[in-house]
Amino acid sequence: MRFTLVSSCVALLAVALSVDAAPDGKKLSFNLENNNNYKPDAKRAVLRANAKYSTTPFAPVHNNIGTLSALDTGSVSVVDHENDLEYYGTVKLGTPAQKFKVNFDTGSSDFWLASTLCSTCKSHTRYNPKKSNTYSKDGRKWSISYGDGSTANGILGKDTLNIGGITIKKQTFGLAKMESSSFATDPVDGLLGLGFNKITTVKGVKTPVDNMISQGLITSPIFGVHLGKASKNGGGEFLFGGYNKKKFKGSLTTIPVDNSKGFWSITMKSLKVGSTKVSGSFDGIIDTGTTLLIFTNNMAKKVAKAYGASDNGDGTFTISCNTSKLKPLVFAIGNKTFKVPTDSLVFQKIGSHCIAGFGYSNIDFAIIGDTFLKNNYVVFNPKVPNVRIAASIDQ
Ligand SMILES: *[C@@H]1O[C@H](CO)[C@@H](O)[C@H](O)[C@H]1NC(C)=O
Ligand SMILES: *[C@@H]1O[C@H](CO)[C@@H](O)[C@H](O)[C@H]1NC(C)=O
Repeated sequence: MRFTLVSSCVALLAVALSVDAAPDGKKLSFNLENNNNYKPDAKRAVLRANAKYSTTPFAPVHNNIGTLSALDTGSVSVVDHENDLEYYGTVKLGTPAQKFKVNFDTGSSDFWLASTLCSTCKSHTRYNPKKSNTYSKDGRKWSISYGDGSTANGILGKDTLNIGGITIKKQTFGLAKMESSSFATDPVDGLLGLGFNKITTVKGVKTPVDNMISQGLITSPIFGVHLGKASKNGGGEFLFGGYNKKKFKGSLTTIPVDNSKGFWSITMKSLKVGSTKVSGSFDGIIDTGTTLLIFTNNMAKKVAKAYGASDNGDGTFTISCNTSKLKPLVFAIGNKTFKVPTDSLVFQKIGSHCIAGFGYSNIDFAIIGDTFLKNNYVVFNPKVPNVRIAASIDQ
């Protein structure tokens, strides 16, 4: 289970998952391996996924695009890893280009990769600064501590970054010198943060999206996110500089964003299970890097009760495997409603029981993770800032 969110400015205490709060500006990550029921299955799934995804599609396809000229956009196809556990796409860094798998994460703002300075990163493709003639040293130290005790650190450098055909010059990024062993089974070589630069772990670093905008590489300062569903052939797409009309139904609804904490925070008017209201207004962070929908303890209790789901004590719930017994989860946002249909309320079947698509954490806002995002297309506009949301074609 991934749960990636920078903890700066918020008290992120993932007590229920036996995860220590990370210091300010550090990223938290934990996984369901704390849950003994989950462990064997997760391991098998990793092996299956490794066999299945031997290559990563890199498809800068410029048809199917919303309102913008193709030249102003860059599209990155993502792999839906391990039944919607995590999504990653390929970017190119350096000259000549070196290719890397990255998790595009709206819940954080650092861009970092495994590098040849790292002797423990060997399960990943490592960026080699010596093989790039556009590399320049920054030299500042960079460090991330993960909530599960894993760590990564290194130095900052700059190089030419290509995201879906958009070429960013002098992008600052972290070259990992050290990665702890828990990274070994993760398919990604690094993360690419799509949050606001307020929460970069080294102050003043511009994110790739900041640079796309300031270097005039995209005319529209937006990116559209489609996360697929494994049950519908998986995949997904991050489209920078535009949005893809073919990936959603109906029209987009505009929702204001509060970025004062560096996150894509929005306010929901209410939450219903079917037609039964379980919560009034609440705030949530839109986070592509978190697998599930994560509610506050209180809200999660109410949602779980409405579904007859039982608490596993590790931040997850066991829910009925029979989706025809469930009702959709309905978010009122702006003047519209957005659904998580019943198929996504069961995240994974383990033996005879099922893990719910929602969980909880000891934080005071919700995390609108992939359970929601694989059912709803989101266009992010960091300039305004706002998001526009519509039902995904996969719903
Ligand atoms: C699932 O639930 C529906 C509705 O309650 C019921 O008709 C059906 O028999 C159940 N299926 C299984 C496999 O239990
Ligand atoms: C919702 O509807 C009200 C009343 O029609 C309108 O004033 C408001 O601007 C709408 N809000 C959004 C976010 O569309």
